[in-house]
Amino acid sequence: PTPTPAPSYAIAFAPVAANQNDTVTVPTGYTVDVLLKAGDSVEAGTAYSGSFPTPADAEKWAGGNHDGMEYFALSGTDANVGGLLAINHEYPDVNILFSGSYDAATATADQKALALSAVGISVVEVAKGSDGKWAVKAGSTFNKRYTGNSSYRAGGPAAGQLSGTIKGMLNNCASGRTPWDTYLTCEESTDNYLDPTQPEQNYGWVVEIDPYQELAAPTKRTAMGRFAHENAAYMADSDRRTAFYMGDDATPGCIYKFVPDRAYSASNRAANTELLDYGTLYVARFNADGTGEWRALVQGQNGLLPGASDPGNVSQSTTPPTPVIVDFNSQADVLINTKAAARVAGGTVMDRPEWLTVAPDNSAVYCTLTNNSGRQVADAANPRTRNLHGHIIKFKEQNDSPLATSFTWEIFLLAGDPSLASGGANLVGDINGDTFSSPDGIRIDPQGRLWVQTDHSVPGNSGVTGTTIDQAFGHNAMFYVDQTSKQSKRFLVGPLGCEVTGLAYTPDLKTFFVNIQHPTGNWPVAGEVARSSTVVITRTDDQPVGN
Ligand code: FEO
Ligand code: CA
Ligand code: CA
Ligand code: CA
Repeated sequence: PTPTPAPSYAIAFAPVAANQNDTVTVPTGYTVDVLLKAGDSVEAGTAYSGSFPTPADAEKWAGGNHDGMEYFALSGTDANVGGLLAINHEYPDVNILFSGSYDAATATADQKALALSAVGISVVEVAKGSDGKWAVKAGSTFNKRYTGNSSYRAGGPAAGQLSGTIKGMLNNCASGRTPWDTYLTCEESTDNYLDPTQPEQNYGWVVEIDPYQELAAPTKRTAMGRFAHENAAYMADSDRRTAFYMGDDATPGCIYKFVPDRAYSASNRAANTELLDYGTLYVARFNADGTGEWRALVQGQNGLLPGASDPGNVSQSTTPPTPVIVDFNSQADVLINTKAAARVAGGTVMDRPEWLTVAPDNSAVYCTLTNNSGRQVADAANPRTRNLHGHIIKFKEQNDSPLATSFTWEIFLLAGDPSLASGGANLVGDINGDTFSSPDGIRIDPQGRLWVQTDHSVPGNSGVTGTTIDQAFGHNAMFYVDQTSKQSKRFLVGPLGCEVTGLAYTPDLKTFFVNIQHPTGNWPVAGEVARSSTVVITRTDDQPVGN
């Protein structure tokens, strides 16, 4: 692929050093403030203050494990100083809900309700005060929770397979948005770990939610497939045709795109309400020669027939698994069994695809492949067996078009660190500058600057005996990576035990919103249990972040 254009804004921050401090570290001249903690009030009511909630209280609190996030402008408000934040909650911050751990098999009805209240999303109106500090606007009519206890509708070819009223969303991991300003929250689990009485196929979908509460009720868009969804990043062309790029964070999983049949309307939001119910889902096949194909997951095509043979997870063992026969009698069958359909159609099984991001000029798409320690069979796109530290792949659609059925690709970088050389070159990687393991969040901002966030497991395996993963890389962090030179600069380091995930910003890029998920120390409030939180990053001289 040809290089993407240089960012319009220079990168001029002084990188921060790797550290293991129980705080959020940002460069000199930057400020970090906590905006929304798990248990803070979203809808009017109580907030966590050291004691456990009733299920009714918790249903109005910010949920736990903040993850993907998008910022939306409000009509009549300068978006640089106020707007809506939609924030995913991947799973509960259990320690503010009830004592002990959570076990679905033995949980009481109240514990189940509490746990389900803490997944889903929060929508909050946020504004920058005269003191320059951002805060949630208490009492805003936009402030709303959508939880694991709420009801959802379904659209698309598999909608009839789901029960009439669908209870809950689960594992709202990463996210995306549409050009018509709806929020896409993605269920990373296909299993109902909270309520075994619910049909399993309720989960594992992309859910479209209008943060303005104007359009259709929250809807599971079945045409986009059912798998362990990470995010959904769109590409749009000048004819308002789109593609939504999606990863299946599984060991291993495939990379997908969904292409709606119709162009979206830029002038009439309501005309887009069913746009995501009609279109073609494709899986990516990465050929060894640097070319790639999008194979349609359409019943009757690419082997998606009754009696199809699913080759299974061919990357995880040098002994090929026994193929499993899967019947694809309808498009609903294809969508409910998307993972198997993708393998039957020849999709490449990747090292846990997490987030994707699209360059503003459509000239590149990036996908993080976070790690896959169990890979035993390498291929060109997943070149390392026992891939402990992950890599980032870059691809370029034919004619930079969202409608393309072919692309070219390259490995953008291999994560790792030279300090791990005694464990073999496989652990070293080729990052130019500040190194990291397990890339997860990735986003190119409107100025063309590529940001990468990490999620190495703590405690985790560095690959070298006697060296912990935090010793090798510091705490999980966020990096700027130059798309041409591949120079990496560490921008932010998270507190103990956390992952860093989710990035949103105001249009002037003077405010960045970042999520700190599952901290385990004493952050963000000294003397309290750690809580997942959204933080706000600004500059003391009020200039764009990173510039
Ligand atoms: Fe919830 Fe794949 O990260
Ligand atoms: Ca993730
Ligand atoms: Ca992850
Ligand atoms: Ca996570």
